[in-house]
Amino acid sequence: MRGEIIAVTGKGGVGKTLISALLIKFLSERERILAIDADPATSLPSALGVRVRKTLGDVREEIAAPSRVPFDESLPIDVLLEHKIDEIMVRTPRFSLIAMGRSEGPGCYCLINDMLRHFIDRLSGRFPKVVVDCEAGLEHLSRRTVRDVSTLLVVSDPTVRGLETARSIKNIAESLQIKFDRIYLVLNKVTGELGALEDKIREMGLELVGVVPEDELVKEYDFIGRPLIELPEDSKAASAVGSMVRRLFG
Ligand SMILES: Nc1ncnc2c1ncn2[C@@H]1O[C@H](COP(=O)(O)OP(=O)(O)OP(=O)(O)O)[C@@H](O)[C@H]1O
Ligand SMILES: [Mg+2]
Repeated sequence: MRGEIIAVTGKGGVGKTLISALLIKFLSERERILAIDADPATSLPSALGVRVRKTLGDVREEIAAPSRVPFDESLPIDVLLEHKIDEIMVRTPRFSLIAMGRSEGPGCYCLINDMLRHFIDRLSGRFPKVVVDCEAGLEHLSRRTVRDVSTLLVVSDPTVRGLETARSIKNIAESLQIKFDRIYLVLNKVTGELGALEDKIREMGLELVGVVPEDELVKEYDFIGRPLIELPEDSKAASAVGSMVRRLFG
């Protein structure tokens, strides 16, 4: 049995990390969650109030350049990764987190990437749910670092231009050889009524699952570097994501 994968995607700056952190906040009240930061900029740990010692990208470099870090070359890479799990994975009572880190350097990484995929697959199987904060665009999905996504959430700002991007992300997602059970639109930073945007969403064949308001508290937390997972449940953004979680997962 593998974990149910929920991937959060969308263009740059729409609020993927905020939505991911709040999903983890609510879902981790019910069951243990594996959080995967698939953005090389690695901002999810700070949103969750944890620190990552080593990313999978760091480990990939160590394996690709064994001369730099001594390791037993007779060890298969998957055994080596299991060996390094305490360096790679941050554990808290409610969730665990791994960060993909930087993308590849100039070397040949196909074999290592394959191993990393297996590693993530196996890890995912140990958790009932996995939340992936994707990088802008569909890099990781297109490289199939994450497979068989149960729920893809495409985050957008409440503008027609934003919706057009969301729709193209959805189209790309559908053209990839990844199995998606369901793809939904989440509007973030909403300030007023949706008005004509609702018709546009329907016309575009997008299915809206959540409307998250613009929330001054989010900006404040980000400004002072306070973890977004600590946003009060009744704050505007958190309560909207709480309702979305109930709608999606009962
Ligand atoms: N609902 C909201 N209300 C107010 N500000 C928000 C809201 N959602 C996100 N922001 C602000 O927008 C900015 C981008 O948010 P966030 O980092 O979550 O987006 P992202 O999609 O993960 O960005 P990136 O593509 O850089 O990873 C942040 O400064 C955050 O404080
Ligand atoms: Mg982000």
